[in-house]
Amino acid sequence: MASKISLPFLLILVYSKVLVMVHGKCMSPPPSSNFTVGGYSGLWFETGKIQTFAGAFFQRDCVCTTVEVTPEINRTNGDSTAINSCRKLTPQGKYLNATGHLENMNPPGKWKQWIFAFAPKVDYTVIYLDKDFAVEYDCSVKLGMTSYCIHILARVPNPDPNKVQRLVDFAEGLGLNTKQLPYKETNHAGCW
Ligand SMILES: *[C@@H]1O[C@H](CO)[C@@H](O)[C@H](O)[C@H]1NC(C)=O
Ligand SMILES: *[C@@H]1O[C@H](CO)[C@@H](O)[C@H](O)[C@H]1NC(C)=O
Ligand SMILES: *[C@@H]1O[C@H](CO)[C@@H](O)[C@H](O)[C@H]1NC(C)=O
Repeated sequence: MASKISLPFLLILVYSKVLVMVHGKCMSPPPSSNFTVGGYSGLWFETGKIQTFAGAFFQRDCVCTTVEVTPEINRTNGDSTAINSCRKLTPQGKYLNATGHLENMNPPGKWKQWIFAFAPKVDYTVIYLDKDFAVEYDCSVKLGMTSYCIHILARVPNPDPNKVQRLVDFAEGLGLNTKQLPYKETNHAGCW
């Protein structure tokens, strides 16, 4: 009797393992212990990123990429906007801006972000923060497909490359780059 129920059970077990392997999932890194809403607010220059195909395609023409984080007026729960801005192909190209809404902050440093009202919300976590740098990880699973991005952000357009490398290594060390994608530097030449 036991052997008769164990086969379908085993198949389900194997099938669910295969599903996870094929479709992947999001990681849940802890937010930086340095995180404060004020410390993350203001203008960041995108130094570079590790990004899956869909997001990379969406931002393929971007140069001079920045993100400006602003807490919502009179909101004390961490609700903020993140204006993602870049120029199309050249520093004089047209602006390609998209406003991210950071909501439901819990714990501090981890939000749900939405950009388009119809799209699913993504997990958005500030995994590193000091006065010069931030590292942000966002991830979502849509139709069984995992999309993620690890952003290295700095307060200046051309920060110390050694520090940048240490932050990339830090993110890799957390196991966030599950698809072993390459780190790509953002082009800021002639932007500022
Ligand atoms: C924010 O709060 C201040 C003081 O309570 C009030 O004067 C102001 O109108 C509020 N602003 C908004 C946009 O709600
Ligand atoms: C895009 O965002 C940048 C940076 O916040 C801003 O300076 C610019 O005016 C915006 N442009 C458009 C067309 O929204
Ligand atoms: C907090 O910031 C300090 C530098 O100000 C840095 O050395 C440390 O790694 C940061 N901690 C975290 C968890 O990000």
